[in-house]
Amino acid sequence: MRSPIPLILGLAATAYTQADLEACLNDSGVPVDTVSGTDWARDAAPFNTRVPYTPATIAVTTTIEHIQAAVLCGVTAGVKVTPKSGGHSYASLGLGGEDGHLVVELDRMYDVTLESEDTGVAVVQPGARLGHLASVLWEDYGRGVAHGTCAGVGISGHFLHGGFGFSSHTHGLALDAILSATIVLANGSAVEASPTQNADLLWALKGAGSNFGIVASYRLQTFVPPPELTWFGASLGWTQSTAVAGLEALEAYARDEMPAEVNFRVSAYGYGGASIEGLYHGSEADMRAALAPLMETAAPSGGITSMGNGSWIDAVTHYAYTNNIDQTTPSAQENFYAKSLVLKGLNGTTAQAFVDYWYNNASQTTTRSWWFQMDMHGGAHSAISLNPNNASAYAHRDKLYMIQFYDRVYSGTYPTTGFALLDGWVAATTAQLPDDGADWGMYINYADTSLDRGAAQRLYYGENLPELQRLKALYDPGELFFYPQSIEPVVA
Ligand SMILES: Cc1cc2nc3c(=O)[nH]c(=O)nc-3n(C[C@H](O)[C@H](O)[C@H](O)COP(=O)(O)OP(=O)(O)OC[C@H]3O[C@@H](n4cnc5c(N)ncnc54)[C@H](O)[C@@H]3O)c2cc1C
Ligand SMILES: *[C@@H]1O[C@H](CO)[C@@H](O)[C@H](O)[C@H]1NC(C)=O
Ligand SMILES: *[C@@H]1O[C@H](CO)[C@@H](O)[C@H](O)[C@H]1NC(C)=O
Ligand SMILES: *[C@@H]1O[C@H](CO)[C@@H](O)[C@H](O)[C@H]1NC(C)=O
Ligand SMILES: *[C@@H]1O[C@H](CO)[C@@H](O)[C@H](O)[C@H]1NC(C)=O
Ligand SMILES: *[C@@H]1O[C@H](CO)[C@@H](O)[C@H](O)[C@H]1NC(C)=O
Ligand SMILES: *[C@@H]1O[C@H](CO)[C@@H](O)[C@H](O)[C@H]1NC(C)=O
Repeated sequence: MRSPIPLILGLAATAYTQADLEACLNDSGVPVDTVSGTDWARDAAPFNTRVPYTPATIAVTTTIEHIQAAVLCGVTAGVKVTPKSGGHSYASLGLGGEDGHLVVELDRMYDVTLESEDTGVAVVQPGARLGHLASVLWEDYGRGVAHGTCAGVGISGHFLHGGFGFSSHTHGLALDAILSATIVLANGSAVEASPTQNADLLWALKGAGSNFGIVASYRLQTFVPPPELTWFGASLGWTQSTAVAGLEALEAYARDEMPAEVNFRVSAYGYGGASIEGLYHGSEADMRAALAPLMETAAPSGGITSMGNGSWIDAVTHYAYTNNIDQTTPSAQENFYAKSLVLKGLNGTTAQAFVDYWYNNASQTTTRSWWFQMDMHGGAHSAISLNPNNASAYAHRDKLYMIQFYDRVYSGTYPTTGFALLDGWVAATTAQLPDDGADWGMYINYADTSLDRGAAQRLYYGENLPELQRLKALYDPGELFFYPQSIEPVVA
């Protein structure tokens, strides 16, 4: 880790130093990490070690007043301000995605309480991690909320930009649970974003939250899970010559038949064949009946290979791949490059291009550790697709699939020749699709460091980009909350 750089401030009237910024925070009573201390090392550590950045200063807030004061110190110093929740951004956007930001570390703020048993509304602080949220909601209240798998992921990055997991086909994205939020804006004021107050801000937060301020508190709608859930694994038995037909059968099932209670993804890892992992919100017998048409058409030479059942928290724990889900500190780090693709379908010549690259290119690279996961995201019975793309900033509700491509090294640095593998796969798959911003896009929660700002905005926000650029000009015209892929303000 390099030592913090002195601040070079083009816009500020006076050149501020790191010491000035720290003094401002200290004068306002905001705790700050000591440079080179153990807390600094922990808070500046990215999940993706391929993209490390050095903050100007790290403010460790424990109250909303701290957050407000930190924002104002950033304004005074002319330094970009970046909130960090769980720090799991693939592009280290929680550190600002570049050197020199004032990072507002939120992960000491992780309280989870239920506002009312009657409504099941939870009040949650912005630095809670997914596993902690799930643990408290279940243990204290017998409730849950739909979200992704990894226990160490922070709720803010996850909930503000999507949040897809093994309950999303049934209940919606994590962001669909956000009823309202308290947010600190670029001028330091704290406002409510709800359907009745600053509704445009709530619309923007649900999909593009990192561009508009620092959320200090959420009100989330929880649900009472069914008493029994059943998780399953299956092999598809596809080969290079059957995979296109398999994908087309999969698509017919996912588009029209797949019941709301079924959740699954198709994955392939390196040289292994394609397999399914999923979660049924109900019993084994009902799961078997719901999956039968899929297994008959898409996996005639495959079948269910593993199964288990249990309570809601058992299912969450199963897919967290650890028994210790109640996490309040960071755990793992990986060194990787990742890409995403959200698509309305994968059939015909497009499916052929995807499959050819898979078997002819990806599977021939013997020195790499890649995988892809293709989530069943949309379809006739998906809770995500009940709403139109413009229901909130999240622009991909009409997409059937959400694919993630991931390539990791276990030691040493990521090779400069490495990027071409996944770039080529996405390019091959999209080559024959219209480039009109409607047929395919990308997902910022799998932030892709190869995208320039223009491409990132277009692919992440699709048809919602013009409205988001207008709102950016309204709420953060000076781009205090800037990062290399942030939304550009456009005055209408
Ligand atoms: C191991 C692992 C597993 C994952 N599994 C899934 C999965 O199953 N499903 C899925 O959809 N995604 C998954 N993801 C992706 C994950 O959803 C995103 O990386 C998410 O943005 C991480 O949130 P964070 O708070 O931990 O990240 P951070 O790096 O802290 O923040 C990410 C972004 O949110 C902003 N932000 C943070 N706090 C706030 C706030 N309070 N107000 C406004 N903006 C804020 C940051 O500035 C940054 O731009 C996974 C990631 C990892 C590393
Ligand atoms: C921060 O403020 C406290 C008083 O609140 C003071 O004792 C301390 O010396 C200050 N530290 C720095 C680095 O300015
Ligand atoms: C899991 O399945 C078994 C066998 O059908 C059943 O006896 C048990 O009650 C189930 N567990 C839960 C938590 O429903
Ligand atoms: C094939 O995929 C396209 C998107 O690439 C989609 O619009 C179309 O509906 C799909 N066709 C079928 C039959 O599923
Ligand atoms: C993929 O593999 C084919 C066949 O080996 C080869 O002709 C092609 O150049 C490869 N494409 C890329 C992008 O590497
Ligand atoms: C979404 O788009 C539809 C159709 O263009 C429009 O009628 C509706 O007002 C839009 N909703 C929002 C919230 O912008
Ligand atoms: C802060 O900005 C918001 C949004 O632009 C505005 O409504 C509010 O009046 C501002 N508050 C102050 C104190 O300037």
